[in-house]
Amino acid sequence: MAKRSIRDLDVHNKKVLLRVDYNVPISKEGAITDDKRIIETLPTIRYLLENDAVVILVTHLGRPEGKVVESLRLDRVAQKLSTLLGKPVRKLDSVIGPDVTEAVAHAKPGDVLMLENVRFLKDEKTGSEELAKSLAALADVYVDDAFATAHRPDTSVAGVPQFLPSAAGFLLEREVRVLETVTTSAKRPFVAILGGAKVSDKIGLIKNLLTKTDAILIGGGMAFTFLKAMGYGVGFSLVEEDYLKVADEILESAKAQGTRIVLPVDVVVTAEIKAGNPHRTVDIEEIPADQIGVDIGPRTIEAFTHETSNARTIIWNGPMGVIEIPEFTEGTKALARAIASNKEALTVAGGGETASVIDALGLQDDFKHVSTGGGAFLEYLEGKQLPGIEAIDSAD
Ligand code: 3PG
Repeated sequence: MAKRSIRDLDVHNKKVLLRVDYNVPISKEGAITDDKRIIETLPTIRYLLENDAVVILVTHLGRPEGKVVESLRLDRVAQKLSTLLGKPVRKLDSVIGPDVTEAVAHAKPGDVLMLENVRFLKDEKTGSEELAKSLAALADVYVDDAFATAHRPDTSVAGVPQFLPSAAGFLLEREVRVLETVTTSAKRPFVAILGGAKVSDKIGLIKNLLTKTDAILIGGGMAFTFLKAMGYGVGFSLVEEDYLKVADEILESAKAQGTRIVLPVDVVVTAEIKAGNPHRTVDIEEIPADQIGVDIGPRTIEAFTHETSNARTIIWNGPMGVIEIPEFTEGTKALARAIASNKEALTVAGGGETASVIDALGLQDDFKHVSTGGGAFLEYLEGKQLPGIEAIDSAD
């Protein structure tokens, strides 16, 4: 990566503003249900502490839209970090202002401070130079470890590094290194597996991947728009009628480029998306007019597994079925296991739902990389430049 690494930034005894993405899922009862994004930043925080830095953490949580939302305060996030780190984390109640300035002024080497949710300030979303300068004034240097927010041109992401020497933290560096390898020097065969509900969210991604991969396997709700575009009856399955033409163009373009698009050959169908409702497997030529496709079937699992076992690079985003209902997660689980069992390949997964299925199956360590990013992961693979990466100083 052509960006400066934290290893090449003088952080010794410095005040370091560390942008992280602790936008973690929180249950109704207020518990953090997945702490992966916090855990993945620990190497950067520990490195800074070993270098006697003062660590000033900046993150957002949720979308409070410029207002203070009590349920989105960062106290429990700071508490979780403190537990994981094994040392106190001083959570401040503001993002900027005299209290923050004073707390930072009195901080000692090795102290960890966390500012309040930066999205409580509306200027986080305006690219405000004033806010960028106020945040920059708290520190000597800026380190970005918030890969999952790198697609947002937010002030604390793209603005602050304009006013401080900057570098990528270990997490951001690793995420970019893996995605750079996948997009520029992937070993072949290169197989992408895409799922999720909507094809409309993934048009740019599919178009970019067509130029790079050998095959794109498509499951989940989005498969039905392709199947309908090919002339199959798909019953009441999810179809984006406005995207039938685009799906058709993608299929044509794939043919022209010699990239295979592999679609389900059988699917699980049901009359209603509800736990416990009767369901069965049918070939895609036989989807009944009154049924909904909710998962890939066993022949599709076999075909997709065969594709993944031969691949040397695999990227995966999106479930193969309606994973909110346990009966319809079989295809997604089988695919996760199939990808994980290919030890020869660079196996990369990303997206919140995808990562949580991998976690639930205990397969995290069997993938070469599970991204902390959702939108950022997809936008990088679409070939877009991410403001959060662009803003970091270049390597010397
Ligand atoms: C994410 O969870 O993808 C990031 O934290 C970005 O959040 P946002 O979509 O609210 O900008």
